Amino acid sequence: MQDGTTVLAMMKSITARMSELTLPLDFDFQATTPCDPEVLVAMSPYWHMLWANASSRQSRVGLKASALVSLAREQLASYLQINPERLIFTSGATEANNLALLGHARARALELGRPGHLITVMTEHRSVLEPLRQLQREGFRLTEIKPASDGLLSTSQLIEAFEKDTFLVSIMMANNEIGVLQPLGELSELCVERGVTFHTDAAQAFGQLAFNFNESGIDLLTISGHKLYGPKGIGALVIRPNIPILPLQWGGGQELGLRAGTLPVPLIVGLAKAAEISFKDLNSNQIKIRNLRNELWNSLKKQFPDLILNGSMNQRLPNNLNFTIPGIRGNHLHRNLRSVLNCSSGSACSNGEPSHVLRALGRTKEESEASLRLSLGRSTTIDQVRSAITFITQAVKKLK
Ligand SMILES: Cc1ncc(COP(=O)(O)O)c(C=O)c1O
Repeated sequence: MQDGTTVLAMMKSITARMSELTLPLDFDFQATTPCDPEVLVAMSPYWHMLWANASSRQSRVGLKASALVSLAREQLASYLQINPERLIFTSGATEANNLALLGHARARALELGRPGHLITVMTEHRSVLEPLRQLQREGFRLTEIKPASDGLLSTSQLIEAFEKDTFLVSIMMANNEIGVLQPLGELSELCVERGVTFHTDAAQAFGQLAFNFNESGIDLLTISGHKLYGPKGIGALVIRPNIPILPLQWGGGQELGLRAGTLPVPLIVGLAKAAEISFKDLNSNQIKIRNLRNELWNSLKKQFPDLILNGSMNQRLPNNLNFTIPGIRGNHLHRNLRSVLNCSSGSACSNGEPSHVLRALGRTKEESEASLRLSLGRSTTIDQVRSAITFITQAVKKLK
């Protein structure tokens, strides 16, 4: 059997080869990221060597598995500067968003003896919008605010949306399609002043941006493993003390009774390792990726001055670019690029519908379809960026 170092070296070499100029080029790192080889190695023993159930506290191996989970929880908590007990493992961001929104709203309604008013933004991920719409069917009232044309929400818009019985606001940290970063400090401050619970979906931000949970006005925060080079199928919800949550599933009482089910020890170890790697090189990765993204945008804009940037350029994730190409058919554009470029016109979870995010920014259905979301990753190189510019230029010239 190969030892860990050999396996790691092999996997790093395979990953490096994959990031060369093999087609199609990967420009869809916001849909998901590949597992970092170091994450694979960290997880490996816990699938087949130390495979005990972390809830089997009577056995020595069970205790070891439980200690590994505690260690991973502490490590993740240290990046958010929170008490580890506040972090509940889930199967990903979708589940964490559902638990936060459904769990908190139903708990509050039980306390108050009636439902109340909820606020979100039209450009949220569907895993936030759909649970909120479910709550609407259960009798809660919901306001979905339309952001400004640059995708950002202002404090005055949120102030206007508050009603007497508003008790929950959900606004994402970084948008998965247009990459915009909402002014969360100011928005959450308004909620703190009014005693309103503030939830943020940080699936696209955690591991890309540094932030201190304790110093923020955030009460509930969602993260996902596969957006930061960790495994798919793991995420977490961070819950500030005294924020009531009713569980969505019942069983063995794991995760403080809020999320029953056997804990996936290898995935939890993998998530902590992925976070460790992301936070170690956060600044240098950001600078490199931002420069590449800017090169991509500046070159394309020079070739085609009529390109429309979707979302604010200043308040934006460093790895995201999203633009509309006026005057061409979206399906022709995507058909032309498919064999050379992995990218999208919207979220991976949109079922092929025109992007609700771009529509909220004022793009027509046709414009939304003729849009590209290009998201860069750690392995993206300048040669890949230059090739992407060439492929897009050729396709657009052909279709114009
Ligand atoms: C902002 C945002 N929220 C939630 C999700 C869902 O995450 P998961 O796949 O971990 O359920 C995604 C992923 O597509 C996302 O980008």
